[in-house]
Amino acid sequence: MEKHTEESSPLLCTCLRVTEREVIEAIEGGAHDLPAVREATEANTGCGDCADDIEDLIADHFERRPAC
Ligand code: FES
Repeated sequence: MEKHTEESSPLLCTCLRVTEREVIEAIEGGAHDLPAVREATEANTGCGDCADDIEDLIADHFERRPAC
């Protein structure tokens, strides 16, 4: 999978240098909860401070596109 550069999307997880775009792509690819996003992107496997930001992105995703 192609990695996006930091210039194209803000860093969401500064510990693992994972961008917001990478997390959104993981969610769109089926990572529908925090553990799945961790496994897909390695985000939130450091200090843990980005958990709320990731949960917000997951919630936003399902608000815009309710689960089938
Ligand atoms: S900011 Fe994501 S684990 Fe520290």
